[in-house]
Amino acid sequence: MDKKTILVTGGAGYIGSHTIVELVQKGFHPIIVDDFRNANKTVVSGLTEILGFCPSIIHVNVCDINALEPVFQAQKIHGIIHFAAYKAVGESVVDPLKYYKNNLQGLVTICELALKYQVNNFVFSSSCTVYGEPEGLKEVDEATRLSKANSPYGNTKLIGEQILIDVQAQNPQFKCVNLRYFNPIGAHPSANIGEFPIGTPSNLLPYITQTAIGKREKLTVFGNDYPTPDGTCIRDYIHVSDLANAHVAALNLLESTSTPFFEAINIGTGKGTSVKEIVDLFETNTHQKLNWEIGNRRPGDVVEIYANAKKANDLLNWTANYTVEDAIVHAWNWEKKLAEND
Ligand code: UFG
Repeated sequence: MDKKTILVTGGAGYIGSHTIVELVQKGFHPIIVDDFRNANKTVVSGLTEILGFCPSIIHVNVCDINALEPVFQAQKIHGIIHFAAYKAVGESVVDPLKYYKNNLQGLVTICELALKYQVNNFVFSSSCTVYGEPEGLKEVDEATRLSKANSPYGNTKLIGEQILIDVQAQNPQFKCVNLRYFNPIGAHPSANIGEFPIGTPSNLLPYITQTAIGKREKLTVFGNDYPTPDGTCIRDYIHVSDLANAHVAALNLLESTSTPFFEAINIGTGKGTSVKEIVDLFETNTHQKLNWEIGNRRPGDVVEIYANAKKANDLLNWTANYTVEDAIVHAWNWEKKLAEND
């Protein structure tokens, strides 16, 4: 039987590249669509090392409909996973139009082509940022009210979900899953692919591994006076390979379900871990001493949020396999591998 072709926009990025691995391992034929503006070229050799062959890659900007359309004309595409988007919260505050233009134009373009070429299985990369800071709630399920996004980046996810709701309402054959990611961390267990933060990392784990390897002087823990057991913020950290796997589960669900179909699904472990706990777990599991200090709170930080992942369990038959400790060790192995190749 022919393998089903899946278009993966942003497939050379952090979550995208891990999803390529899972797709191939589950018998799909993924095509990466990426212009590499936010991806590192070495992801190609890393993927080749893991897969034993070089995946199909098309160097195209997803906002460029004329460049993208021939991809749809050249082969039957069974599904689309749409990752391609900017994702730096702080940068989006400074340059909102960059985010609105790229993230929304990319989504609209890919939807236009999906409708034109009847690609009816669509997975969208959303985020728990759509919940904002839910009042009085720590564990959020999909029925939790969506709230005003605290950054233009977050707003592009909120608007993106709304665009898909509207598209689906008029096109019942178009089936869609919005995956709301919690905090992806870690790297492929082989250490052949992982995260390549551009410039100074704003996310916690890459900042920790870069500090431990000597690229950064010291980690600042943003605030220890929050109303949590150790005073630091709590998040639901999920291994990137588990998150990648959820995309394959979403595609399988879309393929098997009847129309109309539209669901938003949380992808998290259901367990919260504090910043201080992550620091301790890093030191214990990697046997590295980390240079860190307590600093001021970071504006806009949610105090505590973690997923209710029941819907992912029920609908996708998906649960996280890796622990936070696994993810930390894999992230560290990846950082060491990057240092070896520097
Ligand atoms: N943190 C530090 N020091 C650092 C970096 C982070 O203490 O140097 C803390 C943050 O204050 C926060 C926690 O570590 O308490 C996690 O911070 P991240 O930046 O890694 O992740 P966020 O939860 O802030 O952001 C993530 C995604 C965003 C998404 C958001 C939704 O990176 O894309 O979740 O809530 F919008």
